Amino acid sequence: MQQVVNKSGELLAALDRGESLPSSWYTDSQMTEEEIHKIFRKTWQYVGPTQKLKHAGDYITGSVGGIPVVIVRNEKGLEGFINVCRHRRHEVMKGCGNAKLMQCRYHAWTYDMCGELKAAPRSDREENFSTADYPLLPIKVETLGPWVFANADAGCKPLATFFGPVLDIIAESGIELDSLELWSREQWEARANWKTMLENYLECYHCPVAHPGFSAAIDVDQDSYKLTEHEWFSSQIGYVRQSALEGDTKVKIYDAKGSVKQAQYFLLYPNLTININPGFPNLSVDFWMPDGPNRAKGFSEQYFAPGVDKKWAEELIAFNAEVGEEDDVLTNSVQLGLLGGEPSVGRFLTNSEHLCIHFLKYIVRLMCD
Ligand SMILES: [Fe+2]
Repeated sequence: MQQVVNKSGELLAALDRGESLPSSWYTDSQMTEEEIHKIFRKTWQYVGPTQKLKHAGDYITGSVGGIPVVIVRNEKGLEGFINVCRHRRHEVMKGCGNAKLMQCRYHAWTYDMCGELKAAPRSDREENFSTADYPLLPIKVETLGPWVFANADAGCKPLATFFGPVLDIIAESGIELDSLELWSREQWEARANWKTMLENYLECYHCPVAHPGFSAAIDVDQDSYKLTEHEWFSSQIGYVRQSALEGDTKVKIYDAKGSVKQAQYFLLYPNLTININPGFPNLSVDFWMPDGPNRAKGFSEQYFAPGVDKKWAEELIAFNAEVGEEDDVLTNSVQLGLLGGEPSVGRFLTNSEHLCIHFLKYIVRLMCD
């Protein structure tokens, strides 16, 4: 990737002019490999909600740049470990739950909740074998509001350095993060590069064209829908349309009446989005990962304030899913364009798509570091 290093100044200047990255950044498997090591293993990666880790013995699992991780609540508080057995490197824990011990399902090597290896069947017949030599490897863990993150880079800066201000902006929406309850969590897969999908997330230039329902609910006019670059994240804030509150829309949307008047959409760089829609207090998060250069995968979590009406929650989830499906059609098509390799670069509008540029400059800097 020496070539990339040399070209970083050129790429940043091109982005500032509105030129996009070369198509190979979206289609080359070597580029995705580099991203795993230089981006996803160097940054804070979302794992799951703290509400799954309330009691001693609670655990959740996830992936940090492809490294399986387990986060537990033990006698010391929250601790993270690489969720890979020191024996034959099978994953130790699966899913989430509560446990007294962490036992690998391959040969039953058994760790306590602090990661110490307590038992390895038949190891007593081995010479020079001490269980003390094989604890689970630690990984850094911190929380932001109700969410737990992990970082594979032991020298990383604290999580709040990057995303602390997000909590203040969310508070302005009227949402009380600590009161939200996890409603559902689902895995998803998509047929586009993860950056293709997040660039789409970062602009609403396409909203009037491609999202009739969304544009009927939210005022997506360039002068009222605010896109803001922050140092380590970006935000988009829009307001519910009066016509939507009055139920006077051409297309069917969900009932947007409620205490939350703003729509807020955040990308916490590099790969976590947080979405709030007008109406009853609600929030969703999406975790995005590459699955090779031409595919992405991740999970979505839906949260609501206590007492949400089930039907309303399902309507909002369906509304969001419709927007997501409309976006998938767009990004699948962009990925086909990128795979063709011509034109080799595209052109962003610097007044409407500046968040894409900001995000890509962040990516280029990490890749060329
Ligand atoms: Fe969209």
